[in-house]
Amino acid sequence: MTQSDIPADRDDGHQAAPQLAPDINRRGFDQDLGTSFGAPTVVVHPILPGRQPVEARSAEAKLEEIAGLALAIRLDVRASEILKLRATSPGTLIGKGQLERLAATVQAHEAEVVIMDAAITPVQQKNLETALKAKVIDRTGLILEIFGERAATAEGRLQVELAHLEYQAGRLVRSWTHLERQRGGYGFLGGPGETQIETDRRLLRDRISRLKKELEAVRRTRTLHRARRQRTPDPVIALVGYTNAGKSTLFNRLTGAKVLAKDLLFATLDPTMRAIRLPGKGRVILSDTVGFVSDLPTELVAAFRATLEEVTEADLIVHVRDLAHPDTEQQAADVMAVLESLGVLEGEGRVPMMEVLNKADLLDPETHDAAVERAERRDDTVLVSALTGEGVEQLKTVLSERLAAPTTLEMFELHPSDGQRLAWLHANGEVVSREEASGMINLKVRLTEKARAQFRSL
Ligand code: GTP
Repeated sequence: MTQSDIPADRDDGHQAAPQLAPDINRRGFDQDLGTSFGAPTVVVHPILPGRQPVEARSAEAKLEEIAGLALAIRLDVRASEILKLRATSPGTLIGKGQLERLAATVQAHEAEVVIMDAAITPVQQKNLETALKAKVIDRTGLILEIFGERAATAEGRLQVELAHLEYQAGRLVRSWTHLERQRGGYGFLGGPGETQIETDRRLLRDRISRLKKELEAVRRTRTLHRARRQRTPDPVIALVGYTNAGKSTLFNRLTGAKVLAKDLLFATLDPTMRAIRLPGKGRVILSDTVGFVSDLPTELVAAFRATLEEVTEADLIVHVRDLAHPDTEQQAADVMAVLESLGVLEGEGRVPMMEVLNKADLLDPETHDAAVERAERRDDTVLVSALTGEGVEQLKTVLSERLAAPTTLEMFELHPSDGQRLAWLHANGEVVSREEASGMINLKVRLTEKARAQFRSL
């Protein structure tokens, strides 16, 4: 196996931005966990009224997922429960009786943090915190925390920071409207509080637009990197999959690299690339991407773009699935929905795809047999265990086969002094014939679609 000379996209050049308006935190608009790591935590998954019939995934699985997300930032989850809401209460989201029972649970477990697997307004957050005597965080707040902790590249960090600020800005506006309404009732406007909020909003706006500029600069550099990479003929394989499906473990198994692979959701946030050799194919680039998760907060969809752009430019997408997970079908559907929104499943931007059914070692014999049969029936499906190595050699063969792109024969007439193009065609195509006539060189070359496009851009 050959280690790549292509560096993983790490960049530690980014300096932490100066702290923004500390009073935003003080006044509780933000959901920063700060130093809450390891804190006793209660996790709640509310089933909103009317949501139940359309809920494809079971509430238990959702509860387990949100608890997993809490564990991902090392909160000490002591209790978790599902709350069925008959109606949403505007002040506290959950009903009065439910709130009392939840407060008792929080007290019994001495919990300092309560995670609400829903979107809650700043007012609800504040009221819940008062009633529960604990810090309350919603789904978006939690995912932002995880992203903030895990982002490793300059771009990843900037995007997370941007998402965080946009989230805060949204809450600030809503909060402000609320205050304004209250003040309207008292018949005065423009008190000191409002001025402060205006200042916060301006600071947030300034910081957001500065971040966007920084992000643009980082992005330009990355596009340059990619353009350079694309001039090499090596095909790119992108691993995608639901969080915890085993992408990093498979990546490590295929490359011999040591990417952080842990039973933590979102262990990977930035794309990592390595070159590997495949039988009969030579060098290919393998790219590990961020894990998908359902109900991704809209603020974070943009933060995903860095990794997803790699997917749109891949030669082959490998969808890694945790076949041992009870929700494996729903997880696959979630991933496919995101891929579809990226336009890589059909049309001009279509990228070929294959499926890797992972965690074969965890399957009961019956499910294992069924999976073997399924993989045998299809030439785009392989059953593996990234952990034990089962099926990984077979996977390498299938990867080679699927990358063997169709070729076409083309004629080129080049001047002998055009050494660069001549050398390129010899290196990246199969030169079928070569003749010299009237001071020119005529070549007949077999090229893949991709190589043809690359040659044109030379
Ligand atoms: P994200 O970073 O969240 O996207 O996760 P990922 O898809 O990169 O998953 P990762 O490779 O970090 O694996 C998640 C967990 O599943 C780890 O505890 C792995 O050891 C475990 N795992 C991965 N593949 C297998 C497998 O084939 N069998 C078993 N039993 N466990 C596996």
